[in-house]
This record gives sequence, C-alpha cells and structure tokens, in this order.
Amino acid sequence: MPLSRALLLADEMGEADPGVPGWFQYAVVLDGELVGDIGVHLHEDLRNADIGYTFARSHQGKGYASEAVARVLEDLFTVRGVEEVGAECDSRNVASAKLVARLGFRLVERVEQAEWFKGELIDSLVFRLSAWEWRRNRGGRLG
Ligand SMILES: CC(C)(COP(=O)(O)OP(=O)(O)OC[C@H]1O[C@@H](n2cnc3c(N)ncnc32)[C@H](O)[C@@H]1OP(=O)(O)O)[C@@H](O)C(=O)NCCC(=O)NCCS
Repeated sequence: MPLSRALLLADEMGEADPGVPGWFQYAVVLDGELVGDIGVHLHEDLRNADIGYTFARSHQGKGYASEAVARVLEDLFTVRGVEEVGAECDSRNVASAKLVARLGFRLVERVEQAEWFKGELIDSLVFRLSAWEWRRNRGGRLG
C-alpha cells in the first residue's frame, strides 16, 4: 500500500507554524491510524534544519518512513528555501542510517562516545543533505 494514501498532518501543536524557527512535529496518519512522526527543527537563520523520525514497529520495513521523510524534505528544500538538513543517529541504529542514506544524505562525522545510553557510551553518526544534492538526486529515488 503506497503512503501516498496517507496524510501528513501537523501534529496537535496548536498555533505552531513550520515556517517559524523551533521544533515542528508532523504526524503520519494512514487510514486514520497514527503510524509515525517526523520532527523538524528549523534554525533561527531559516536556512538550516535538523530532522528526527519514529515509526510504529508495525509500519516499519515497508518504506513508509522513507517516503514520508522525503515529502518533508521536498517541502523544506523547495517551498521553505532551506539550504541544508542534518540528521543524527546512534551508530548502532542501522535502520535510521539506511533511511538517510537512501534519501541521499552524506555521512559527515562520527562522534566517538557522544553520549551515555543505558550505561554505555555510544558513538553517534551525523549526516547532512543540501538542497543542491536533493535536487540533483531527486529523479533517481523517492521524493
Ligand atoms: C528509523 C525508522 C523510522 C526506519 O524505519 P524503516 O521502516 O526501516 O524505514 P523505511 O521506510 O526506509 O523502510 C525501509 C525498509 O522497507 C523495505 N520495503 C518494503 N517494501 C518497500 C517499498 N514498497 N518501498 C520501499 N521500501 C520498502 C525496504 O527494503 C527496507 O527494508 P530493509 O531495511 O530491510 O532494507 C524506524 O526504524 C524507527 O522508527 N526506529 C525507532 C526510532 C528511531 O530510531 N528513530 C531515529 C532516531 S535517529
């Protein structure tokens, strides 16, 4: 089932505006069911943003997350004029690293021992994608 049937809704954040600096949360709703969320942190300069995402376990492994994040990226780069988007994940989070790689992000840094997680020091991976890279790659994949 393609996600194109799903709605990408602004979460219940009242007056929140995705064009204003700060965090904005999108809810991904499929057939009335909340299946995921995508958070966007728009920086004060309006040119940079960071994203985060979580999908319900029952809706993972179907390409939904990639498709929904691609839609948000398309909006950021083509409508909002954002120039670069960053994403960061735990180095052990294979699904997340694969998702951003699939969308054309490049790995820019591995931060050794970035934070403590359940009593263990973990590395984090930092990825970036520019508007130029997005436009260049757009024809060859989702988005
Ligand atoms: C990160 C996360 C959103 C990735 O979810 P996901 O469902 O694996 O991501 P995608 O939407 O890209 O799905 C890709 C998978 O669907 C498969 N797939 C099946 N049908 C597909 C289709 N029609 N189109 C595309 N992919 C399809 C792909 O082959 C791929 O499987 P693979 O990973 O075994 O290669 C999810 O693991 C999650 O919510 N994790 C918990 C929260 C988290 O870690 N967030 C990130 C914090 S940095």
